[in-house]
Amino acid sequence: MSEELSRRGFLARSAGAAMAAGPAVLPALGQNDRIQAGFIGAGGRGYYCMERLYKGSPELVRVVAVCDTYAGNLSRGKDRVQTMGGNTPKTYIDYRELLADPNVDAVFIMTPEHLHYPMAMAALRAGKNIYLEKPIAHTIEEGAEIVKLAEKSGKVVQVGTQNRSNPLYQRAKDMVEKGMIGPVHYVRAFWYRNFPSRSAPAAWRYAIPADADESNTDWQRFLGPAAKRPFHKGRYFQWRNYWDYSGGISTDLLVHQTDIANYVLNKSVPMSCMCSGGIYVWGPPDDREVPDTLSAIYEYADKFHLNYSCFFGNDQYGYGEQFMGHEGTIEVLNRQELHFYPQKFGGLAPPHVAARTELHLKEANQDNIAVERHIRNFLEAIRGKEKAIAPARMGQVAAIPGHMATLSYRNNKKIYWDEKTDKYRFS
Ligand SMILES: NC(=O)c1ccc[n+]([C@@H]2O[C@H](COP(=O)([O-])OP(=O)(O)OC[C@H]3O[C@@H](n4cnc5c(N)ncnc54)[C@H](O)[C@@H]3O)[C@@H](O)[C@H]2O)c1
Repeated sequence: MSEELSRRGFLARSAGAAMAAGPAVLPALGQNDRIQAGFIGAGGRGYYCMERLYKGSPELVRVVAVCDTYAGNLSRGKDRVQTMGGNTPKTYIDYRELLADPNVDAVFIMTPEHLHYPMAMAALRAGKNIYLEKPIAHTIEEGAEIVKLAEKSGKVVQVGTQNRSNPLYQRAKDMVEKGMIGPVHYVRAFWYRNFPSRSAPAAWRYAIPADADESNTDWQRFLGPAAKRPFHKGRYFQWRNYWDYSGGISTDLLVHQTDIANYVLNKSVPMSCMCSGGIYVWGPPDDREVPDTLSAIYEYADKFHLNYSCFFGNDQYGYGEQFMGHEGTIEVLNRQELHFYPQKFGGLAPPHVAARTELHLKEANQDNIAVERHIRNFLEAIRGKEKAIAPARMGQVAAIPGHMATLSYRNNKKIYWDEKTDKYRFS
């Protein structure tokens, strides 16, 4: 029997055995038993996630392939595998060639938002398991198709909303479920940034590599399904600023926060969204198209309201979600602090509330830990030992409110979600 067949056999046996026997401890994996992974996109996120993969799950996985359309990132990705994994991966410019490799069991799709749909669909059709960065897709319709194919394929899909794997949010969920803050009808979520910062001189203007030009940057493959236009380094390396490739704040940042509200409070798609904002701080001569200032108000069918605020001109209050229950508040700040405050009711708190004491946790490094756990959960789901914590359907439910915010903002109208048709409408 070939090495490949026996390795696949092992994966299948592990999955079958684990499902039959529950969470039994599987033996340590040998070199040839590890899940073989490919990275599609080795830019900021891909390069970072490779590190998290090696730190968190070195014994479960081997990165055997890396694909990127900018030569500099392809070579950095390959170096990281050689340095941290000790093997030399195959390298590709065309992701379809990577997907055609039967030795690849799983792919990490870490490319700009507009490429998630064609890549995820092709990966599922090629029989791969996918770790797919958020947002699941660039439109609601694309996301729905990914969910459909993912569920039909039976492959594991893990969407990169790693807050679900952050111990602080898991603690918050547990506290809410134990009734520590009583019924929750209101969440305030926010994300504030200011520039210049160490990462960029202006909002989402990350550094463009000095050597990048048309000879080492595959512009047509970057465009993929997007409108054809001449080579533009800003669009390639700072794609978040343009509607063709990104939904801006709504799908880049807000989806993390709608996702975590869903996770902590067991919510689903909101009934409506009203969004407004603009380009107030980082406008011309900058040619950005997406807003740097955004407020969105969501109403949910079950008497619940989410108030979202994002601004790129002041970072005093950072990043966070405040779960405001009738009996108390839990806030998770910057992914590394959890605070719990029981309500005082002006000295009239009922005894069961008055008996609760404040809690303040500060844990550095929580987002790194969350990403490591999220990747590990994906790999264990492939082995049949765990269920993916952020499957395609959850990724879509998190992304729909983001898309609703973009549509409301761009059409200057309140938008509604129709549960019966699974579609949005404007009136
Ligand atoms: N979960 C999180 O907290 C988090 C954080 C940051 C980014 N992200 C997500 O990760 C994804 C990537 O973001 P990023 O910041 O790494 O962007 P990036 O621009 O730094 O990296 C994208 C990479 O994709 C490559 N690429 C472009 N077109 C390609 C193609 N056709 N085939 C192969 N490679 C191609 C680019 O060369 C680049 O190396 C986005 O979906 C983003 O939303 C998630």
